[in-house]
Parts: sequence; structure tokens; C-alpha cells
Amino acid sequence: MPLTLGERLYSQPPLPYDYGALAPVISEEQLKTHYDKHHAAYVKGANDILLKLDKARREDAEIDMKAICKEFNFNYGGLTLHQLFWPIMAPPGTGGGKPGGKIADYIEKDFGTFERFKKEFIQVAMSCEGSGWASLNYCGATDGVQINQVEKHNVNVPAQQKFLLLLDVWEHAYYIDYKNERAKFVNGWWDLVNWDEVERRLP
Ligand SMILES: [Fe+2]
Repeated sequence: MPLTLGERLYSQPPLPYDYGALAPVISEEQLKTHYDKHHAAYVKGANDILLKLDKARREDAEIDMKAICKEFNFNYGGLTLHQLFWPIMAPPGTGGGKPGGKIADYIEKDFGTFERFKKEFIQVAMSCEGSGWASLNYCGATDGVQINQVEKHNVNVPAQQKFLLLLDVWEHAYYIDYKNERAKFVNGWWDLVNWDEVERRLP
């Protein structure tokens, strides 16, 4: 018996650490709000659209497919990017520092040095207009790594690339802790990077 739609809906995986684990870089209140309110809203948003589509199809009702695709992409992008974001962070002391191993080799191959990569990544994070993400992606065609800027959750996402490292620079990601000082968040965030997880995402 195939699973019903209700049994196949998206879910929100648990955080791999406690709400307070990333303090002082990300406070307990900031992380709780981000995960419980914002990430959860994208999961609900994507599921609501699936249920709406299912209902319309069963009733053979008219729907605006263009609007639905746009809304779905936004919510699905949100749920996916956040799901990729949490595991690439770890409590200060266990995360942070410079990467080693294969991921360090890839960064060196394309950027020359880790410092050069970090400088470019920060520039991308700081120049997101409004809401967006900075990411480091793996490109199979070049067997290399590239920096990308994601607008909102779903614009400029390279279809054939794999996200290795991401930084959420939506205001909801840092405003409780840093108000409008995005630079403080972006610079402090490096203490949290879980390079082991980033490396695991390489092919
Ligand atoms: Fe976010």
C-alpha cells in the first residue's frame, strides 16, 4: 500500500546540538527563534502547498500553477538550505579554525590560500542585498570549489552544484544578537564552522 501524502510530507530534522550550544556567537534565543519559527515556517509552507495541490487535484479545481511554483520554490529552498546549514556548525572550541584534509586541498587549489577564500566569502556574505546566503559549492564539471551568492532562498542556485558550506545572512539569522551589525556576525561565525561536515559533503 503506497504511503498517503500525509505520510510523505516534509519534516524538520532535529538540530545536531542544543539551542545554547553555539553561544556566544549565536545565542540560545537567536537559534531557538531561527530554528523553531523561521525554519519551521518553511517546512510548513512547503507542506501546505503540497496539501493544497492535492486538494485541488482531487476536486479538479482551478489553480494558479505559476504562483504555486514560485511559492513552493521559496519555501522548499528555505527548508533545504536551513537543513544544510545547521550541521556545518559546531560549538565554539570544537568548530572553527582552519580546515585540513581534502577540503583544505580543494580550497587551496582554487583560491590559493584559505585567507583569500575567507576574504571572498565574507565579501559575498556582506554584499547580499536584503535576504540571502553565501555558499561554497562543489562543481563536478571543474572538480573544483566555487563561491556563490543565493538571493532569498531560491534565486541564483546553481542546478548542478553541491552546497558544501553555507552562511545565512537573512536578518532573522542574527538580528536578536547583533541588530544591524551583520559584519560582527559574519566575522564571528567562523568560530563555529564544522569543517569535518563540510569535508564529508565532498564527493
Ligand atoms: Fe534562516
